[in-house]
Amino acid sequence: MSEFKPLVFSGVQPTGNLHLGNYLGAIRKFVALQDNNDCMYCVVDLHALTAQLVHEDMRGQIRSITAAFLAAGIDPKRHIVFNQSQVPQHAELAWIFNCVARIGWMNRMTQFKDKAGKDREQASLGLYAYPSLMAADILVYRATHVPVGEDQKQHLELTRDIAMKFNMDFMEKIRPTGLGVDITVGDEPVHAYFPMVEPLIDGPAPRVMSLKDGSKKMSKSDPSDLSRINLMDDSEAISRKIRKAKTDPDALPSEVDGLKCRPEADNLVGIFAALADKTKAEVLTEFGGQQFSVFKPALVELAVEVLAPINAEMRRLMDDPGHIDAVLRDGGERARARAEKTMTEIRDIIGFVR
Ligand code: TYM
Repeated sequence: MSEFKPLVFSGVQPTGNLHLGNYLGAIRKFVALQDNNDCMYCVVDLHALTAQLVHEDMRGQIRSITAAFLAAGIDPKRHIVFNQSQVPQHAELAWIFNCVARIGWMNRMTQFKDKAGKDREQASLGLYAYPSLMAADILVYRATHVPVGEDQKQHLELTRDIAMKFNMDFMEKIRPTGLGVDITVGDEPVHAYFPMVEPLIDGPAPRVMSLKDGSKKMSKSDPSDLSRINLMDDSEAISRKIRKAKTDPDALPSEVDGLKCRPEADNLVGIFAALADKTKAEVLTEFGGQQFSVFKPALVELAVEVLAPINAEMRRLMDDPGHIDAVLRDGGERARARAEKTMTEIRDIIGFVR
């Protein structure tokens, strides 16, 4: 074998409402990638336990993310849509990765620092090990490409570090199995079992910001609902939130450079571009010189045009939980078969007796 087989993998946590950041940073890219790739999209329910153990409606949350995947246009027959807990091999590989990753690496994770807050002693061990489970999600399928928002970049760098250390530590055990692939990392030839995953972060909205504060990420946990557009918001709510979004008094610039130091304008132009499948430059060609009083109504119209059908389809799907569960069960079965193949190989490479 000379190369790893391309495979797209990504995950979304079933915690809180999905918002425009999740859609533009992740789900919209999932849909675009499925035409030319083998894809696996996972509702990462084990990850949802890391910040909060007990969830009032875990099942409903899992179904709602699945409904969003399907409503956005992911085809669960051609690809694999499943929830993480149906594939215990993720947790098994995560344990092995806990023994590969170094404490020093984990201590650098900014998301852990943000989520743990001031009282780090009270954070769960799961929250600390979160990125190791994320690496396992991806590498248990030896996936090569991972579409995510920019906030996940550091976790994917850690995934590469874990893969690299495993490859190097076990290189002489991998070689005789014939399961490895010759790759070069930098200038170095490596006989690798795990690929070096490539993050797919590009696009005009890799980091959608709060509508109320252009320096803060749009987030499920922001106490102000006006800061985000939820995928379940109706047209009236979308319109109200965009009309109330923070801006500055100037007209839009004609060049992308003019968005520097104007975080709110930059954010709204990025959102418009991502929703319209355009670049920011193209949006500014159309709206440069215009006031927000002209741009905002155009953005409302576009956002409603894109999001209303997704919203309607999500509601329709949520009325039939049996169908959603059947999709997850089918995806879970197919994912399990793939994951077990990898885990059998990994157990052999490590030298466990079976
Ligand atoms: P989660 O559930 O927090 O977010 C899901 C996806 O949405 C993206 N995202 C954003 N993109 C742009 N702007 C924003 N404001 C914004 N907010 C969220 C996230 O980057 C993500 O792509 N750790 C992951 C879940 C995960 C995963 C994985 C992802 C678990 N295992 C394996 C990829 C591969 C997370 O917390 O996503």
